Amino acid sequence: MDIPKVSFFDFLVRAPEIVKNPLPFHHDNFEKKGDTFWLHLGFGKRVIFSRNPELLQYTLQKNHKNFTKTDIQTKEVAKYIGKGLLTAEGALWKTQRKLIQPSFHKKHLARLLEIMQQTIRKEIAELPIGEKIDVTPPFGKLAFEVVAKALFSGAVNQEEIHRLQEVVEASQRMLVRELRQPYLGWWFKYGGLLEKHFRMVREARQLIRRLILERKKVVEPKGDLLDMLLAARYEDGAAMGEEQMIDEIMILFTAGHETTANALSFTCQLLAKHPEYQEKIYEEIRTLENRDLMEQLMQQQIIKNVLEESMRLYPPAYFIDRMNFEQDEFAGMHFEKGTSLLFSVMEIHRHKRYWGAPEDFRPERFEGAPNKHSGYYYPFGAGPRMCIGNNFAMFEMQMVITELIKHFKILPEEEAIEILPLITLKPKNAEVQFEKRS
Ligand code: HEM
Repeated sequence: MDIPKVSFFDFLVRAPEIVKNPLPFHHDNFEKKGDTFWLHLGFGKRVIFSRNPELLQYTLQKNHKNFTKTDIQTKEVAKYIGKGLLTAEGALWKTQRKLIQPSFHKKHLARLLEIMQQTIRKEIAELPIGEKIDVTPPFGKLAFEVVAKALFSGAVNQEEIHRLQEVVEASQRMLVRELRQPYLGWWFKYGGLLEKHFRMVREARQLIRRLILERKKVVEPKGDLLDMLLAARYEDGAAMGEEQMIDEIMILFTAGHETTANALSFTCQLLAKHPEYQEKIYEEIRTLENRDLMEQLMQQQIIKNVLEESMRLYPPAYFIDRMNFEQDEFAGMHFEKGTSLLFSVMEIHRHKRYWGAPEDFRPERFEGAPNKHSGYYYPFGAGPRMCIGNNFAMFEMQMVITELIKHFKILPEEEAIEILPLITLKPKNAEVQFEKRS
């Protein structure tokens, strides 16, 4: 079966609009050509775009061994944050995943909940009340701090957290510039901009190294993620090496803060537009308030439904990319060796074939069996490389929404929710106002 094509000319005609926001262009082509199409990008380069959930499952789950992440993650991202879970492939990824995965199981996360909650409460107490604010920056700070405290508990101070966040965010911004303006590569290199960023990364790595070395001298366990990572052993009984541990910590910061901050920002905007859900959540919080923290989180059905619906409409990881090692075939479609495949998670999450009223905010669609939409709902990816921090992120976001709704009403400031599709899907102006509950 021939996969429909979108020509370089069609791409060129809409190029100015695509630079700002490529999603309407993708959507129009999906509607015209079907759920999978080739996009020709010029100079012989072409990419397959797909919103076919079965092809996604085939690629990420059923035949995942024939697919690798593209150079963007394995080389470009890795050059700043190193080779670890998010950026490694093959044997290194497999051993690292096996070693780190247990630390993210619910039973281990239970030990981190209290420190996460304290951090969230402190950050929420600093939110300005009664004025219009863009919630993305404070949620970015909150999410970064939650990962930092989960990793290092009291061993890291505010100034150090702030510096680490600056470095991680600056290197992500630099990467976006490199990807968007590849023709300026020589200038980035010889003008010293790349070296400036690598210097910052070296400084951040030095800080993390010091925290690890100090911890190795402490006898009393802290029960944080760093303790768990230090105690973890490979199959041969060896512990993780220092440089590898620094890579993994840089990766947890990178993978774990912006995605969570974006999801929280979109959720706040949606709640501001749909105050009836704020009241439903408030009731739920009051009903569960005397239970133990883990039990509250397990029982918070309405909050979970709201978060899932928010990530359906606005998945922070809105694209997943892969490339095949060997030629492959799926449902009559033939893929040459080395084909780039881009899955639009956002299009799958709004596909009319799978969702009733896909553009509407209806959290109740997630009521009932927990995985009832699992065939076409992928906010955390799928298969062996699915997000390792999914439970961490859900617990964190549930605690943030709990604290917000317990104390405030969220009022809308912007009519439309606008998006900024960069490496992750960000809100453009997540402006709301918090008003104290009487
Ligand atoms: C709402 C928040 C989050 C979303 C939407 C999200 C989404 C994702 C997705 C879609 C992937 C798979 C990417 C792919 O297959 O190419 C992924 C991987 C990953 N995520 Fe998350 N994530 C979130 C929060 C977190 C948090 C809080 C952490 C850690 C503290 C984390 C750590 C990771 C890591 C390490 C990977 C790579 C896993 C591997 O390849 O083995 N994420 N995430």
